[in-house]
Amino acid sequence: MTKGIFITFEGIEGSGKTTQVNLLAEKFKAEGFKVLKTFEPGDTLAGKKIREILLNSNVPINSLCELLLYFADRVQHVEEVIKPALKEGYIVICDRFTDSTLAYQGFGRGVSIDLIRNLNKMLLGDFMPDFTVLLDLQAEIGLKRNKDINKRDRFEMEDIKFHNKVREGYLQIASIEKERFLVIDAYRPPIEICEEVHRKISLIFGL
Ligand code: TYD
Repeated sequence: MTKGIFITFEGIEGSGKTTQVNLLAEKFKAEGFKVLKTFEPGDTLAGKKIREILLNSNVPINSLCELLLYFADRVQHVEEVIKPALKEGYIVICDRFTDSTLAYQGFGRGVSIDLIRNLNKMLLGDFMPDFTVLLDLQAEIGLKRNKDINKRDRFEMEDIKFHNKVREGYLQIASIEKERFLVIDAYRPPIEICEEVHRKISLIFGL
């Protein structure tokens, strides 16, 4: 059976991930590929309930509880949605994955990076994205973009220092796994970003 390709988009709030997921999906669809768009947290029935707890800032949870809820969402998501689609040869494009946990819970909240990596290994084994796009931009600008559309969930309530730590974390993660990551300046026009991402993925996977 043909195996699909698992692509993830990462970045801080307001970095334009959702726009890029949509643009890239349309581009591959137009070329005749089977494409599945998905996201974390919350793209399964169980995940929707987990997401409610995770993002509702009125429900107090500590950092470890938060970490485990993200993984609970992820293990369900991988088994129920991602793996079956890959098995059927889909290009799966996912808005956020384990790199978000490393950046937000690890670098942002200060949970041990080793703990997150070990947990990931125990729960998902070797399963990981084939390719990851990191949309990088200054935290001030990302937050401002989101404020303009009035988003106020648990993470949008965090201060600029938190979001700077998340951004730096992402850049550090990407610098360790240069092969898997494409780091993109998210200030650039969306169409131009999509063209570059598409060109690079097509080249790497011979599409
Ligand atoms: P969402 O509304 O989907 O926002 P975005 O458009 O920024 O992806 O909210 C997801 C939030 O959850 C986002 O603030 C990042 C956070 N998050 C983590 O902290 N850890 C994780 O592992 C994941 C997947 C997301």
